[in-house]
Amino acid sequence: MDKIQSVRGTKDIFPIEMIKYNSVIDKARSVSKLFGFDEASFPLLEKSQVFTRPLGESSDVVSKETYSFDDRGGDSITLRPEGTAGIIRAVLSEGKLNDLPLKYFYSGPMFRYERPQKGRLRQFTQIGIESIGNPNAIEDVEVILCGIKILKRLGINKNCILNINTLGDTVSRNEYRENLVKYFLKHESKLSKLSKNRLALNPLRILDSKENEDQDIIMNAPLFSSFLNNSSIDHFEKVLNYLKKSKVEFVHNEKLVRGLDYYCHTTFEFITEDLGSQGTVLGGGRYDGLSEMLGGPHIPAVGFAAGVDRLVMMSKLNDVSPMAVSILPIQRENFDYCYSLLNTLRDKDIKAEIYPGGNVSKYLKKINKKNQKIVILVGDKEIQNKNVILKNLSTGDQFEVPNEELIKKIDL
Ligand code: HAM
Repeated sequence: MDKIQSVRGTKDIFPIEMIKYNSVIDKARSVSKLFGFDEASFPLLEKSQVFTRPLGESSDVVSKETYSFDDRGGDSITLRPEGTAGIIRAVLSEGKLNDLPLKYFYSGPMFRYERPQKGRLRQFTQIGIESIGNPNAIEDVEVILCGIKILKRLGINKNCILNINTLGDTVSRNEYRENLVKYFLKHESKLSKLSKNRLALNPLRILDSKENEDQDIIMNAPLFSSFLNNSSIDHFEKVLNYLKKSKVEFVHNEKLVRGLDYYCHTTFEFITEDLGSQGTVLGGGRYDGLSEMLGGPHIPAVGFAAGVDRLVMMSKLNDVSPMAVSILPIQRENFDYCYSLLNTLRDKDIKAEIYPGGNVSKYLKKINKKNQKIVILVGDKEIQNKNVILKNLSTGDQFEVPNEELIKKIDL
């Protein structure tokens, strides 16, 4: 029979790598807590409308990348491609409006039907934070600073450059959009096929195009900064000033247009060269209009999400070996004695495993391969003398330890 393969773009995560994933998520969670973002969890399944309006029917995510299906009750359901829209849906449908402002940290799988490559999966894991209900520029900075601290905690902040831009408020954006369309229409015949399609649907996304034939046209396109009204300029200047005061280095990238439609004002991405073409490690921004797109009132909000798979690839975590004590009976007959020792260790919260015993060198090789460096060997002599042999596979050292001192000696 043919072997069944995994679904393309999905990833099996075995224990050694799972430790890295959990370590990244734990670090992100604890930094977020420092900034007042407490953990919450939201469904992987949402009604499809949760994403179609806020993310934009013409956005790549909605038009090509969602996993959507009709469930047995006939509802159109989508596996969440991102967390933000579902969180605002939850705030609205669970009646949380009187509790604003709200600050959440979350982590979990997201699903996008993209072309898989290094750093790009169809099921990937994100961590993210959302600050809901606070319109102030300082909150944009808080969110960015929290992102920086997470990257720092993972030891990768030096490899990431903060790109920041403003998309202004709705009035500025509509005016810019009109002018951009006029400009691109003049050059339509030279635009790539992808950008021609985007011209009608989402002209701002053309600025993000990677197609060669678009580059010269994009270079001379009108800049958003010329169309920003005073209140949009004021918000952005405050953000940049706070960032400068916090000694944060950034690049003001006027071409930074995020792939989701719900953004306004501040948008930002932390970009690295360490991951090849999938260089965006963390991205986010302000999305004051999202709630209205879902039928709710105006709720100012700002947040970000980061790809855990990418963070794991970048961070050189050294706490990766599953430290444990392996108990190895020297003869099979010593197993029962060792088994009670095993339970004593577990009662003291020491992670321990037992092997059948006998063939000592074969099992030592196995244990070494599993990265478990501390081995307790027990044979007839040790049982008689009420001690054990403690062996450290990293150094090769071994010595006898009386039973009553064992716990102290292997204090991990
Ligand atoms: P996003 O830029 O679409 O934003 O995704 C955020 C991060 O998720 C990316 O920077 C990247 O690290 C990771 N990511 C995205 N797609 C993939 C993929 N196919 N494979 C692996 N990693 C991926 C959002 O999702 C927004 N919800 C962020 C946000 C929160 N904005 C405001 N609040």
